[in-house]
Amino acid sequence: MRSPLWRLACSLALLSAAARALPAAKPLLGYNTWNAFRTNIDEQLIRDIADRLVELGLAAAGYTYLNIDDGWSERRRDGTGQLVAHRRRFPSGMAALAEHVHSRGLRFGIYGDAGKRTCAGYPGSRGHEGTDARTWASWGVDLLKYDNCNYDAADWDPVPRYAAMRDALNATGRPVVYSLCNWGALRPWLWADKVRHSWRTTGDIHPTWGSVMEILDASTDLARFAGPGRGHNDADMLEAVGNGKLTLGEQRAHFALWALLKSPLLIGTDLRSIHPDSLAILKAREVIAINQDPLGVAGDLVWVHGSLRIYAAPLAGGGRAVVLLNTGDAGPTNITVTWQQLGLPAGTAAGVRDLFAERDVGEFEGAVSAAATQHDVAVVKLTPLASGNSSRAADDGWRPWHQLHAQLPPRQHRPSVRGWLLAGAAAAALRLAAVAISIARWRRRVAGSGWRRLGDAHSMAAGTVQLGPAVFVGPGRVWRLVG
Ligand code: GLA
Repeated sequence: MRSPLWRLACSLALLSAAARALPAAKPLLGYNTWNAFRTNIDEQLIRDIADRLVELGLAAAGYTYLNIDDGWSERRRDGTGQLVAHRRRFPSGMAALAEHVHSRGLRFGIYGDAGKRTCAGYPGSRGHEGTDARTWASWGVDLLKYDNCNYDAADWDPVPRYAAMRDALNATGRPVVYSLCNWGALRPWLWADKVRHSWRTTGDIHPTWGSVMEILDASTDLARFAGPGRGHNDADMLEAVGNGKLTLGEQRAHFALWALLKSPLLIGTDLRSIHPDSLAILKAREVIAINQDPLGVAGDLVWVHGSLRIYAAPLAGGGRAVVLLNTGDAGPTNITVTWQQLGLPAGTAAGVRDLFAERDVGEFEGAVSAAATQHDVAVVKLTPLASGNSSRAADDGWRPWHQLHAQLPPRQHRPSVRGWLLAGAAAAALRLAAVAISIARWRRRVAGSGWRRLGDAHSMAAGTVQLGPAVFVGPGRVWRLVG
C-alpha cells in the first residue's frame, strides 16, 4: 500500500503542474443560492435574482457573478453520461438560463463536486471531469464552485481530484473562475493557490453571530497565504447579511470583516424581500473598495484586548484600512488604533475617513479613536498625507502579520503531513464504518427476511437441526431459512 508521504509527494508534484490562469484576480463579488434557498431552486428564481441584482443596483456595485449552488441537476446523468439540468425545475436548460444571466450583464456560475455525488446527493464529477468541464463550457459557465463530498475512501486525497478538474477546465479554453470548497480541511491555503482562484478556509457559515465569530477566529493568521498571484481565502458566503436575526451592527461587522479579509463577497439572502438596511450594507461602496483594492493584500488581526479587536490591511498608495471591532456586550466603547500598530511612522499626518458613513473625519497624527457599540464595528481608512515633495509609495511593504506575530506566536503552517495522515485515517475509519454497516444490514436481513438464528452450534444437541440447503452453520452459530 502507498504511504501517505508518497501520496503527499505526488500531490505536491501534481500541484506544480500548470497553475490555472486566473480570469479574475480580485475577490469575487456576486450571489450564491445556497444560503437562502438550499436545493429549492428553479430557473424562474434564477431569472428573478438576476433581475433583482440589476434593479437593486447591486450589479452596478460590482456583484456580477450569479452562482447556482447544489441541486440544479437531475439525479442521474443522461444516456451519454452528461450532466443534465433538472427537467422540471430548469425546463429551458442551462444554456438558455446562462444566456439570460449574460444578457443582464452578469456572469453565470455553477456548482460541482469532486466526489461521486454532491453534498446534496446529485451526481459528482469524479471520473467525469473532462465531460463535465466541456458541458459547462458549452453552456457558457464563468465560475465553478467545486465541493468535496462523497468521494471514495481510496480516493481521499483532494489534491489530484481538484487538479483533475483544473486541467479539464483549462482544456476547454474557456476562462472559468475556479472556487474550491474543502472547508479548510488539509489547510488548502498551503496548496490550493496552485489550483486556485479561492479556497474555503472553514466549515459552513450559519446565520448567527457565533458562527461569524467562529469563522473570524479561524481566519486569524491566514492573510499571509493569500494575495496577488496566489488567490483568496474564502471565509464562506455573506450568510449573516440579510438572513437570521442579526442586528444591523452584527451585519455590518460581518460584511466589513469579510471585505477586509479579501474573502469573496457572495450575497446569500432572498433579494426579492431584502430589508433596505441590509441592502445598504451590501452596497457600501467604500467598504467594497477595500475588498477590491488593487494592492490585494488581505487584512488580519493586529491587536486584541479583551473584547476589543483591531483588524487592518495595507492599501495601494500606502494607506490602511482599519476595522475596529467590539465583540463584547457593553455599549459604545472607544477603540484607539495607533500608527505603530499599523506600521506608520508616529509623526505621519493622515486623513481619516469613515467608510460606512462615507465622510471625512479629520486629520490625525499618531493615533485615532472611534466608538463601536456591542457586536459592531467602526471602519476607517487612513491616508497618509504627502509632506513636501514626497509622494507615497504604491506599497510601503507593511503587512498585518508583522504586527500579529509581534504579539502572538504564529500558527504552525507546515505542509501538513499530520493532516494528510489524519485524513487517510479518517477515510479508512469511514471505510471500516461502511463495511460494519453493510455487515449489520446483512445480519438484519438474514434475521428478518428469512434466516433465523437457531442457537449456538456448540450448545445444540446433535440431531436437533436437519442440515440441508435451508440451514447454514456460521462461525459458532446455526441459522435456518424460514418463511
Ligand atoms: C457544502 C458547502 C456549502 C454548499 C453545500 C451544498 O456544505 O460547504 O457551501 O455548497 O455543500 O450541498
